[in-house]
Amino acid sequence: MKDSRNSVKIETETIYETRYISNLFNSMSKTYGLVNYISSFGFTERWRHQCIAYLPETGQMLSGYDLMSGMGELWHSLNKRLSKKAKVIAIDLSEIMHREATKKKERYSFHIETLQADILQLTLVYESADFIVSSFGLKTFNHEQLQNLAEVTCNLLRPGGTFSFVEISSPSSRWLRIPFHFYLKWLIPVIGRIFNGNSNDYRMLGIYCEKFQNAYGFTSMLREQGLAAEFKSLFFGCASVVYGCKPGSV
Ligand SMILES: C[S@@+](CC[C@H](N)C(=O)[O-])C[C@H]1O[C@@H](n2cnc3c(N)ncnc32)[C@H](O)[C@@H]1O
Repeated sequence: MKDSRNSVKIETETIYETRYISNLFNSMSKTYGLVNYISSFGFTERWRHQCIAYLPETGQMLSGYDLMSGMGELWHSLNKRLSKKAKVIAIDLSEIMHREATKKKERYSFHIETLQADILQLTLVYESADFIVSSFGLKTFNHEQLQNLAEVTCNLLRPGGTFSFVEISSPSSRWLRIPFHFYLKWLIPVIGRIFNGNSNDYRMLGIYCEKFQNAYGFTSMLREQGLAAEFKSLFFGCASVVYGCKPGSV
C-alpha cells in the first residue's frame, strides 16, 4: 500500500482509520464548503434542511449533539428549530474542521460547544441528549463502526429523545446510479481541483459513498438497539435520511 491520498491504490481498511479520515478532512477544509455547495447544485444544503425537518417534534429540545459536525454546516438549519436556551455539543474528528467550527459558533442564537474527538472513543453522559443530528458523516464509517455509532446514539438519547441523520447515497435505479457515481468519482474531483482543492481528496467522497450505499443498513442497526427508526430516500435515492426516537418518556 502506498500511504497517501495521492496514490490510486488505497486499502479498504486504511480509509476507515481515524488518522486517514482526519487528514482527509483537514486537507479538504479550505475548499469543502464551496465545492460541496457548487458540486451538489445546492442539494446538500437542501438535504441538511430536510434532515432537521425530519427530526420529530418533542416536548423539549434543550440539549443535543451534532455528530461529525464538520465546520457547523448544519447549524443554519438547526437555528430555526432551537430556542436560545438550547445547547448543542458539536463533535468532529478533524482539527481544522473543528477549529473553523469553533470560529463560527457565536453566529447562532443557541449555545454551541465544539469538541475535537472521535465520536466512537468518547465517554459522554448516558441519556443526556434530547436530540442528535448529523449530516453527511456516516459514509466514512465501516459496518462495524456504524454498529458502534448506533449503540452510541442509543446510549446518548434520553427516553423520548429524537434523532435524524442524513447521508449522500447510491440511487437504486441503475439509470441514475451509473451517471451519479461517474459524477461523484470523476467530475467532483475536477470541480474540487478548479477551486484549488486536491482532486484525490474529492474522489474519496465517491469511493466512500459507493461503499456506504445508503442509510438503510444504519436504520436496521438503530432498530436493533431498540430505537424507533424510519428510513426515507431523498431525490430518487441520491441521499437518505434515518430519523426517529428512543421509545419511552422521562
Ligand atoms: C463530509 S463531512 C460532513 C460535515 C458536515 N456535517 C456537513 O454537513 O457538511 C464529515 C465529517 O465527519 C468527521 N468525522 C468522520 N469520522 C468521525 C468520527 N469518528 N468522529 C467524529 N467526527 C468524524 C470528519 O472529520 C468530517 O468533518
